[in-house]
Amino acid sequence: MSQNAVGIASLALHLPPLALAVEELATLRGAEPAKYTLGLGCKTMALCPPNHGVVEMAATVAERALARWEADGGDRDRIALLGVGTESALDMSRPLSAFVADALDLRGALRSYEVKHACYGGTLALRQAVEWRLSGAAQDKVALVLAVDQALYAEEDPGEPTQGAGAVAMVVGEPTVAAIAPISHPWSEPAFDFWRPVGEAFPRVQGQLSLDCYKRAVEQCFRGLVGDRDAAAVLGAFHALCFHVPFPKMVKKGVFQLGEAFGWSEADTAALYRDKVEPTMEWNQLCGNAYTASLWIAVARALAGLAAGERIAAFSYGSGFGAELLTLTAGPGAAAAPWRADIEADLAARRLITSDDYTALRAAESVAAE
Ligand code: CAA
Repeated sequence: MSQNAVGIASLALHLPPLALAVEELATLRGAEPAKYTLGLGCKTMALCPPNHGVVEMAATVAERALARWEADGGDRDRIALLGVGTESALDMSRPLSAFVADALDLRGALRSYEVKHACYGGTLALRQAVEWRLSGAAQDKVALVLAVDQALYAEEDPGEPTQGAGAVAMVVGEPTVAAIAPISHPWSEPAFDFWRPVGEAFPRVQGQLSLDCYKRAVEQCFRGLVGDRDAAAVLGAFHALCFHVPFPKMVKKGVFQLGEAFGWSEADTAALYRDKVEPTMEWNQLCGNAYTASLWIAVARALAGLAAGERIAAFSYGSGFGAELLTLTAGPGAAAAPWRADIEADLAARRLITSDDYTALRAAESVAAE
């Protein structure tokens, strides 16, 4: 790893305290449970009670990352950038980062802002932090990057079984957990595949178009990485391939799109998916789509237990649409993976609710929104 490598110095995760099994939702909606479990690949969706929304999730996850970093010798005075990726903004003007800075009492010589590009916002905040460090402008300062979302669709919307919530925090500086390669592979095209007009509580989705856009973005970003080299050899060198996870079946479709684009047999594509992709979604299946946090939850799972030097790839997608493929190299802190404890603690503490509880929770939200 180069002397000037930049990356993740500390990593933390947080899931909110409620969850609903998708089978419960299927019963409520009169759907076949197998459509949600086998058809979409979902298991449980994390949900936020009214007193634990995006600000509380962001503050919790940030405190975890900072405490871990401070225990390792980090110092809060070195934070000079607070970037929050989200599509659960609370205000059209005041950035979510200001709410988080309030909760963390962060103030002073610090750039604090929100980044919006659907599920891609967290990755953009991370890239900005990495490039700020690489530019030299950061000097010895570090960034705190958060990706946090509560993904809710209108009741009975086809997207409802894919709902979820979660937050990821990364201190960006020395690459103790993972180095992030300076070169990445973006792709964007303007599209109305999934969007939320100002003043509306829930997204509008053109389901089939969103699937097509996601698959096209996967293909183009991986073509950028592979160039004129042998795709199987290039991808085979990665320990894991992580994706934005709107729902696990979508990721599988993306991988099979790659297989088709690169001319692989179905068996080879299936083996790649089974060995390098499916295991990264273990935690995503427990929280559902956490929008900006979704990819970084998969990355956290993939990095956990890696030996220093092992590499992973991370594909980010945000509707609208923008996508980017990053590559990361595990640092010395990946093997111990202290962020596993975040997931274990949150899963142990969270309450699985019934379909009646869920109906009441949604009703309380609509009253609050009025
Ligand atoms: N047993 C097993 N499988 C079943 C089944 C059963 N009883 N019934 C249906 N299925 C399967 C279907 O065959 C289908 O699988 P395939 O796609 O492999 O054929 C799967 O279940 C889903 O069925 P439908 O296509 O009929 O589902 P739907 O139309 O009701 O909803 C969706 C699917 C449109 C994707 C919906 O979940 C949605 O709108 N999601 C939100 C949009 C989204 O996530 N898009 C992804 C890309 S955009 C993005 O990435 C941004 C983001 O985070 C939102």
